[in-house]
Amino acid sequence: MKLVGVSGALAGGKTSVAVGSVLAAARHLDSSIDTELIDLRDYEIDFAAGLPLAAYNEDTWNVVKKIQSADFLVFGTPIYQASLTGALKNLFDHLPEHAFRNKVTGMVATGLTEKHFLVLEYHLGSILSYFKGLIPTDNVFILNDYFDPETDEIMDKRMMERIRKMAEEMIDLQRGLMNRD
Ligand SMILES: Cc1cc2nc3c(=O)[nH]c(=O)nc-3n(C[C@H](O)[C@H](O)[C@H](O)COP(=O)(O)O)c2cc1C
Repeated sequence: MKLVGVSGALAGGKTSVAVGSVLAAARHLDSSIDTELIDLRDYEIDFAAGLPLAAYNEDTWNVVKKIQSADFLVFGTPIYQASLTGALKNLFDHLPEHAFRNKVTGMVATGLTEKHFLVLEYHLGSILSYFKGLIPTDNVFILNDYFDPETDEIMDKRMMERIRKMAEEMIDLQRGLMNRD
Protein backbone atom coordinates (compact mmCIF):
# COMPACT_ATOMS: atom_id res chain seq x y z
CA MET A 1 0.00 0.00 0.00
CA LYS A 2 1.24 3.46 -0.81
CA LEU A 3 0.56 6.34 1.58
CA VAL A 4 1.25 9.83 0.23
CA GLY A 5 1.42 12.86 2.54
CA VAL A 6 0.92 16.39 1.24
CA SER A 7 2.13 19.37 3.24
CA GLY A 8 0.26 22.49 2.10
CA ALA A 9 2.58 25.09 3.66
CA LEU A 10 4.84 27.30 1.56
CA ALA A 11 6.36 29.14 4.53
CA GLY A 12 7.53 27.30 7.65
CA GLY A 13 8.40 23.69 8.37
CA LYS A 14 5.93 22.64 11.08
CA THR A 15 3.26 21.27 8.76
CA SER A 16 5.80 19.24 6.84
CA VAL A 17 7.14 17.78 10.09
CA ALA A 18 3.60 16.93 11.19
CA VAL A 19 2.72 15.18 7.92
CA GLY A 20 6.09 13.41 7.91
CA SER A 21 5.33 12.16 11.43
CA VAL A 22 2.10 10.53 10.22
CA LEU A 23 4.05 8.79 7.44
CA ALA A 24 6.70 7.62 9.93
CA ALA A 25 4.01 6.34 12.32
CA ALA A 26 2.38 4.39 9.48
CA ARG A 27 5.71 2.81 8.49
CA HIS A 28 6.34 1.94 12.12
CA LEU A 29 2.94 0.21 12.34
CA ASP A 30 3.41 -1.66 9.05
CA SER A 31 6.85 -1.72 7.45
CA SER A 32 5.38 -2.89 4.14
CA ILE A 33 3.71 0.51 3.64
CA ASP A 34 5.48 2.66 1.08
CA THR A 35 5.34 6.39 1.89
CA GLU A 36 6.10 9.63 0.10
CA LEU A 37 5.99 13.19 1.38
CA ILE A 38 5.00 15.93 -1.05
CA ASP A 39 6.13 19.20 0.52
CA LEU A 40 4.64 21.98 -1.59
CA ARG A 41 7.69 24.15 -0.81
CA ASP A 42 9.61 21.83 -3.18
CA TYR A 43 7.29 22.31 -6.15
CA GLU A 44 6.09 25.15 -8.36
CA ILE A 45 2.42 24.34 -8.78
CA ASP A 46 0.71 26.41 -11.48
CA PHE A 47 -2.48 28.25 -10.65
CA ALA A 48 -5.47 26.16 -11.70
CA ALA A 49 -7.13 27.95 -14.59
CA GLY A 50 -9.58 25.36 -15.85
CA LEU A 51 -7.16 23.90 -18.43
CA PRO A 52 -6.37 20.22 -19.07
CA LEU A 53 -3.51 18.92 -16.89
CA ALA A 54 -1.19 18.67 -19.90
CA ALA A 55 -1.29 22.48 -20.20
CA TYR A 56 0.47 22.97 -16.86
CA ASN A 57 4.13 22.74 -15.86
CA GLU A 58 5.94 19.50 -15.03
CA ASP A 59 5.75 20.00 -11.25
CA THR A 60 1.98 20.36 -11.40
CA TRP A 61 1.65 17.26 -13.55
CA ASN A 62 4.01 15.24 -11.32
CA VAL A 63 2.29 16.15 -8.07
CA VAL A 64 -1.19 15.41 -9.45
CA LYS A 65 0.03 12.03 -10.74
CA LYS A 66 1.67 11.17 -7.39
CA ILE A 67 -1.60 11.95 -5.63
CA GLN A 68 -3.61 9.89 -8.07
CA SER A 69 -1.25 6.90 -7.72
CA ALA A 70 -1.54 6.84 -3.90
CA ASP A 71 -3.69 4.18 -2.25
CA PHE A 72 -4.39 6.56 0.63
CA LEU A 73 -3.35 10.05 1.65
CA VAL A 74 -2.82 12.44 4.50
CA PHE A 75 -3.17 16.20 3.94
CA GLY A 76 -1.58 18.78 6.21
CA THR A 77 -2.20 22.51 6.29
CA PRO A 78 -1.26 25.37 8.55
CA ILE A 79 -4.39 27.31 9.45
CA TYR A 80 -4.45 30.50 7.36
CA GLN A 81 -7.22 33.03 8.04
CA ALA A 82 -9.33 30.35 9.74
CA SER A 83 -9.03 28.04 6.73
CA LEU A 84 -6.62 25.89 4.75
CA THR A 85 -3.82 27.50 2.72
CA GLY A 86 -4.46 28.82 -0.75
CA ALA A 87 -1.58 26.65 -1.97
CA LEU A 88 -3.35 23.47 -0.89
CA LYS A 89 -6.71 24.64 -2.24
CA ASN A 90 -5.04 25.46 -5.56
CA LEU A 91 -3.63 21.92 -5.72
CA PHE A 92 -7.12 20.51 -5.06
CA ASP A 93 -8.44 22.65 -7.93
CA HIS A 94 -6.24 20.59 -10.29
CA LEU A 95 -7.82 17.27 -9.26
CA PRO A 96 -10.72 15.55 -10.99
CA GLU A 97 -14.07 15.07 -9.27
CA HIS A 98 -14.09 11.89 -7.13
CA ALA A 99 -10.25 11.89 -7.03
CA PHE A 100 -10.27 10.17 -3.62
CA ARG A 101 -12.92 7.52 -4.19
CA ASN A 102 -11.91 4.36 -2.27
CA LYS A 103 -9.06 6.24 -0.60
CA VAL A 104 -8.71 7.13 3.04
CA THR A 105 -7.81 10.80 3.44
CA GLY A 106 -6.42 11.84 6.81
CA MET A 107 -6.03 15.43 8.02
CA VAL A 108 -3.41 17.30 10.04
CA ALA A 109 -3.25 21.03 10.85
CA THR A 110 -0.89 23.34 12.66
CA GLY A 111 -1.98 26.66 14.09
CA LEU A 112 -1.46 29.46 16.58
CA THR A 113 -4.83 29.18 18.28
CA GLU A 114 -6.88 26.15 19.23
CA LYS A 115 -10.02 28.19 18.46
CA HIS A 116 -9.48 27.05 14.88
CA PHE A 117 -9.31 23.29 15.43
CA LEU A 118 -12.68 22.77 13.70
CA VAL A 119 -11.23 24.12 10.44
CA LEU A 120 -10.17 20.55 9.69
CA GLU A 121 -13.70 19.22 9.93
CA TYR A 122 -15.54 22.15 8.37
CA HIS A 123 -13.15 23.33 5.65
CA LEU A 124 -10.60 20.67 4.72
CA GLY A 125 -12.93 17.78 5.59
CA SER A 126 -15.73 19.07 3.38
CA ILE A 127 -13.33 19.35 0.43
CA LEU A 128 -12.02 15.81 0.95
CA SER A 129 -15.61 14.54 1.20
CA TYR A 130 -16.44 16.29 -2.07
CA PHE A 131 -13.66 14.22 -3.67
CA LYS A 132 -15.21 11.10 -2.03
CA GLY A 133 -12.30 10.59 0.38
CA LEU A 134 -13.02 8.45 3.43
CA ILE A 135 -12.15 10.59 6.47
CA PRO A 136 -10.93 8.88 9.63
CA THR A 137 -12.72 9.71 12.89
CA ASP A 138 -9.40 10.99 14.26
CA ASN A 139 -7.58 14.04 12.98
CA VAL A 140 -4.61 15.93 14.40
CA PHE A 141 -4.42 19.65 15.23
CA ILE A 142 -1.04 20.75 16.60
CA LEU A 143 -0.56 24.12 18.26
CA ASN A 144 2.70 25.94 17.53
CA ASP A 145 3.51 25.66 21.26
CA TYR A 146 3.93 21.91 20.85
CA PHE A 147 6.83 22.33 18.41
CA ASP A 148 10.43 22.97 19.38
CA PRO A 149 10.99 26.56 18.13
CA GLU A 150 14.50 25.74 16.90
CA THR A 151 14.01 22.38 15.18
CA ASP A 152 10.21 22.18 14.57
CA GLU A 153 10.31 18.79 16.27
CA ILE A 154 6.99 17.83 17.91
CA MET A 155 7.69 17.95 21.67
CA ASP A 156 4.34 16.79 23.04
CA LYS A 157 3.92 13.05 23.67
CA ARG A 158 0.10 13.29 23.51
CA MET A 159 0.36 14.75 20.00
CA MET A 160 2.63 11.92 18.92
CA GLU A 161 0.10 9.46 20.33
CA ARG A 162 -2.72 11.16 18.41
CA ILE A 163 -0.62 10.89 15.26
CA ARG A 164 0.01 7.20 15.92
CA LYS A 165 -3.71 6.58 16.54
CA MET A 166 -4.74 8.37 13.36
CA ALA A 167 -2.14 6.46 11.32
CA GLU A 168 -3.44 3.20 12.77
CA GLU A 169 -7.04 4.07 11.94
CA MET A 170 -6.07 5.12 8.42
CA ILE A 171 -4.31 1.80 7.78
CA ASP A 172 -7.23 -0.22 9.18
CA LEU A 173 -9.78 1.70 7.11
CA GLN A 174 -7.72 1.47 3.93
CA ARG A 175 -7.25 -2.27 4.37
CA GLY A 176 -11.01 -2.57 4.83
CA LEU A 177 -11.66 -0.61 1.64
CA MET A 178 -9.21 -2.71 -0.35
CA ASN A 179 -10.61 -6.01 0.94
CA ARG A 180 -14.17 -5.20 -0.07
CA ASP A 181 -15.61 -7.20 -2.96
C1 LIG B 1 -1.05 34.28 6.50
C2 LIG B 1 -1.16 33.52 7.80
C3 LIG B 1 -2.41 33.40 8.39
C4 LIG B 1 -2.56 32.69 9.57
N1 LIG B 1 -3.81 32.54 10.10
C5 LIG B 1 -3.97 31.77 11.23
C6 LIG B 1 -5.27 31.55 11.77
O1 LIG B 1 -6.27 32.04 11.28
N2 LIG B 1 -5.39 30.75 12.88
C7 LIG B 1 -4.28 30.17 13.49
O2 LIG B 1 -4.46 29.43 14.47
N3 LIG B 1 -3.03 30.38 13.00
C8 LIG B 1 -2.85 31.17 11.90
N4 LIG B 1 -1.59 31.36 11.38
C9 LIG B 1 -0.43 30.70 12.03
C10 LIG B 1 -0.02 29.40 11.32
O3 LIG B 1 -1.12 28.56 11.10
C11 LIG B 1 0.99 28.64 12.21
O4 LIG B 1 2.08 29.46 12.55
C12 LIG B 1 1.46 27.36 11.52
O5 LIG B 1 2.00 26.49 12.49
C13 LIG B 1 2.53 27.61 10.44
O6 LIG B 1 2.89 26.37 9.88
P1 LIG B 1 4.22 26.16 9.03
O7 LIG B 1 5.39 26.22 10.00
O8 LIG B 1 4.09 24.82 8.41
O9 LIG B 1 4.28 27.27 8.00
C14 LIG B 1 -1.42 32.11 10.20
C15 LIG B 1 -0.15 32.28 9.62
C16 LIG B 1 -0.02 32.99 8.44
C17 LIG B 1 1.35 33.16 7.82
